[in-house]
Amino acid sequence: MSVGTLHNQFYSFIDFYKNKVEFSFENQPFSTNPRHVWIICRLGNHWLLTRHKDRGIEFPGGKVEAGETPEEAAQREVYEETGGSVETLTYIGQYRVTGKQEVVIKNVYFANIKGLDAKEHYFETAGPVLLKELPPNIKINHLFSFIMKDDVLKYSMEWLENNLKLK
Ligand code: GTP
Repeated sequence: MSVGTLHNQFYSFIDFYKNKVEFSFENQPFSTNPRHVWIICRLGNHWLLTRHKDRGIEFPGGKVEAGETPEEAAQREVYEETGGSVETLTYIGQYRVTGKQEVVIKNVYFANIKGLDAKEHYFETAGPVLLKELPPNIKINHLFSFIMKDDVLKYSMEWLENNLKLK
């Protein structure tokens, strides 16, 4: 009889909008063709985020466009929203949000950023935000986007600490 291992763990929680979210570290368990990506970025000894004009501070991310792989979308979104160039991209996991209208499936990556270009426009964001540490009160901090309030952030940070020794 097989016993549950770290390789088939699924985490389930309720998000800021009371939608069900399922997260896993497995290789694209919900879809091999995810339409969304989210990228936890590190530049030197800082976290690199963006300030979304409506949602607030969040790690960059967005939709995979027609003809793109999720990895290409991740690089493009990081550059569009922060001006950062991705040096290495590591898959962390995938999550599925079951919303009232639609289901969203998103790949989560970790990116090492090699440099930041100053740009005139950052699409729907106000550009890069560099933080030495993520504050412990993100869930109740109105400056942060609802995307940062998902437990996906907590699980991903634990993964980074265990696998890449990042804190
Ligand atoms: P635009 O076309 O860019 O305006 O997208 P949209 O506002 O329709 O949103 P999107 O397709 O990105 O997501 C639709 C809904 O899914 C959102 O309103 C959220 O409720 C939910 N959603 C999207 N991304 C996330 C996420 O990372 N976490 C959680 N918890 N919900 C999300």
